[in-house]
Amino acid sequence: MNRRSFLSWGTVGVGSLVAAMGVSLAAVVRFLMPSVYYEPPQTFKIGNPADFPFGPPTFLVDEKIFVFRDREKGFSAASAVCTHLGCTVAHFQSDNRFHCPCHGSVFAPDGSVLHGPAPKGLQWFEVTQARDGQLRIDKDKAVPPTYRLMV
Ligand code: FES
Repeated sequence: MNRRSFLSWGTVGVGSLVAAMGVSLAAVVRFLMPSVYYEPPQTFKIGNPADFPFGPPTFLVDEKIFVFRDREKGFSAASAVCTHLGCTVAHFQSDNRFHCPCHGSVFAPDGSVLHGPAPKGLQWFEVTQARDGQLRIDKDKAVPPTYRLMV
């Protein structure tokens, strides 16, 4: 092997090594930074106060939240996630209670457990009004069932 041939094969070898290291490094970085985030935002706007009727709660399917609007008391928001195994509860206007279809838990209007197996009551979330006038819910801020936002 002459000198010229040795240098060209050496250049190819070093180039291949650098390329392999670059691909490996990119794979490690990709592994450490997942491209999918499973947690949806916990604070979100749900619309203008006028969008919500008085009386029966409005069920927000994607957020799994009941929004209540009371003439005297204002707005409140309850989680529709059963505290037993996470099924979505339904609100029955006939008895003003929440019923879980999975294992039969029943919750009072304030979310407390009337009938198990749910171990604890439904969560209530803070409702505030954003600067643009829309209602905003923060699922990271639990509030007592008596909490209301007057608008
Ligand atoms: S998930 Fe609601 S009672 Fe079991």
